[in-house]
Amino acid sequence: MTDSTASDWVDLRSDTVTRPGAAMRRAMAEAEVGDDVYGEDPTITALEREVADMFGHAAAVFVPSGTMGNQIALRLVCPAADEIVCDADAHVVSYEGGGAAQHGGIQTRTIVAPCGLLTRELLEPQLRLEGYHTVPTRAVAVEQTHNRGGGAVYPLAQLENLRALTSSYAMLLHCDGARIWNAHAATRVPFTDYGALFDTMSVCLSKGLGAPVGSVVLMADAAQEPVARAIRRRLGGGMRQAGVLAAAGLFALRHNMSRLADDHARAQRLAVALADVKDGLVDPAAVETNIVPLDLSVTALDAATLAAQCRAEGVLVSAVGPQRVRLVTHLDIDDADVDRALTVLTRALAA
Ligand SMILES: Cc1ncc(COP(=O)(O)O)c(C=O)c1O
Repeated sequence: MTDSTASDWVDLRSDTVTRPGAAMRRAMAEAEVGDDVYGEDPTITALEREVADMFGHAAAVFVPSGTMGNQIALRLVCPAADEIVCDADAHVVSYEGGGAAQHGGIQTRTIVAPCGLLTRELLEPQLRLEGYHTVPTRAVAVEQTHNRGGGAVYPLAQLENLRALTSSYAMLLHCDGARIWNAHAATRVPFTDYGALFDTMSVCLSKGLGAPVGSVVLMADAAQEPVARAIRRRLGGGMRQAGVLAAAGLFALRHNMSRLADDHARAQRLAVALADVKDGLVDPAAVETNIVPLDLSVTALDAATLAAQCRAEGVLVSAVGPQRVRLVTHLDIDDADVDRALTVLTRALAA
């Protein structure tokens, strides 16, 4: 496919590829705005209050991206030259360009964990206390749901264990909650239960919820709000009449949350059908949310070849490792798109 319009593609690369629909665009056009650097954009203020209240946090700061949200939060929980521990596949160490080191002077240490989900047993031996020769661990970062972990969901009890552990060492806990909405949709765990566990969070409006841009950094401690705003400013994230963007976020929260279950059902349908194509390709029981990881080591194809073959037939998938492909369902994928993707993938994988 070479001369297609964007809408001809079945784009399963990521849930970030959604485009705002007419109703969301209307909400953006009609947003009341002001200069947010002066704290005068009522739509941004409303979004920040709404998201803070959802999670029971004291304060919230609107930012352009999930990456900036994480980068601000990491600096709130860890001073320069000290250490954050996270899993080895975490977004904060895989896809943020070394920002924690560059912007925060933060050392990160990583632990290989199944599906990216840390356990108390894996984590505790890696925590380092303050001492003359050591780099002290100040905070731990988790990711809910886990992107490179195939959309895996931390069970609440596992997070509670991590919280108890970090508290017992007086360490802070950050959550990259880019897809925490999907975790809630899969488990029905209340957002306030998640919020109660973390010192800082970053939640994205531009993934499954379908806003074109925007994330929110959350802080349990209100005293951190001016610090977060100062770091955002330093990173160039102080925006002016960005209420047009916040309006998309508010629309997304109010209208696109309940449909996340549809994305999960479609991901499950992809997983179940593809599991029949090749043993070991995907375990449908491990597909908990909207991400379907394919392990091509059981096939004769590598990830780049499969992605190229699918692209030639109008289906876009992500090669996320030499033998690893990721399919992600989202608001612009319907049942007919899943049918078409399955036809193309089945043909390519069976060859
Ligand atoms: C888990 C996770 N955290 C953070 C981000 C960063 O979001 P952004 O692309 O808005 O910077 C992403 C992006 O896909 C993500 O998957």
